[in-house]
Amino acid sequence: MVELGVNIDHVATVRQARKTVEPDPVEAALEAQRAGAEGITCHLREDRRHINDEDVRRLSKRIQAKLNFEMAATSEMVAIACEIRPHMAMLVPESRQELTTEGGLDVCAQRSKLSPIVQTLENAGLIVSAFIDAVPDQIDAAAEIGFSVCEVHTGSYAEIFLSPPSTQRTEALAQEIALIQQAGKRIKESGMRFNAGHGLTHANVAPIAAIPGLAELHIGHSIVSRSLLVGMYESVAEMKSKIEQATAQ
Ligand code: PXP
Repeated sequence: MVELGVNIDHVATVRQARKTVEPDPVEAALEAQRAGAEGITCHLREDRRHINDEDVRRLSKRIQAKLNFEMAATSEMVAIACEIRPHMAMLVPESRQELTTEGGLDVCAQRSKLSPIVQTLENAGLIVSAFIDAVPDQIDAAAEIGFSVCEVHTGSYAEIFLSPPSTQRTEALAQEIALIQQAGKRIKESGMRFNAGHGLTHANVAPIAAIPGLAELHIGHSIVSRSLLVGMYESVAEMKSKIEQATAQ
């Protein structure tokens, strides 16, 4: 079964719009867990624009689902990860200006910087994941420096999915899915766990969920958006059901 990690950052985004106490991302995480989410993801950004340090501490104490701590490769975040000890540390590139994580980590170009960070996190007992584009060299570099998981960026697939129907769109989607599938195969052959995420929605998740060898999907914005209309439990349950149907086929 492909597992679902629910990213609850944007519950905190709504809270921070008024800098108040509601909605509480921890309560949202508990509801997502109740609906069957195997994991909960939060991204503690350098600028603390949504999730804050206290949220991470409360999440780690209160949820039973696997806590996936999304983080930039900085000494500040490494120290927090080693103190909190989440199930997994997911390393992502981060810049202050971006609306969301825009591209994969350039592991090839940052081997010497990332290698000791991966080692430190592993020594603290964490599973360490690299968020990367579906590029063979990035996968090889991730394996070389000791990552045990690669999360493949599905953002381009999601972008193309939003374009109006045309033959070009159909071909471009098939090409993206093939690239992600090949990346997944290479990740597995290198002995790492194959995860994927970014930009996935209730509407576009099925072809990605059906890729052989996929272990886990990380989905945030779409689940939180839909939860405004139907509640977090229902939104997560719907996503779980789409994933289950896709994997059963
Ligand atoms: N995976 C990673 C590494 C991410 O940075 C994000 C966004 O925080 C997600 C998955 C989830 O993306 P989305 O919110 O578009 O579902």
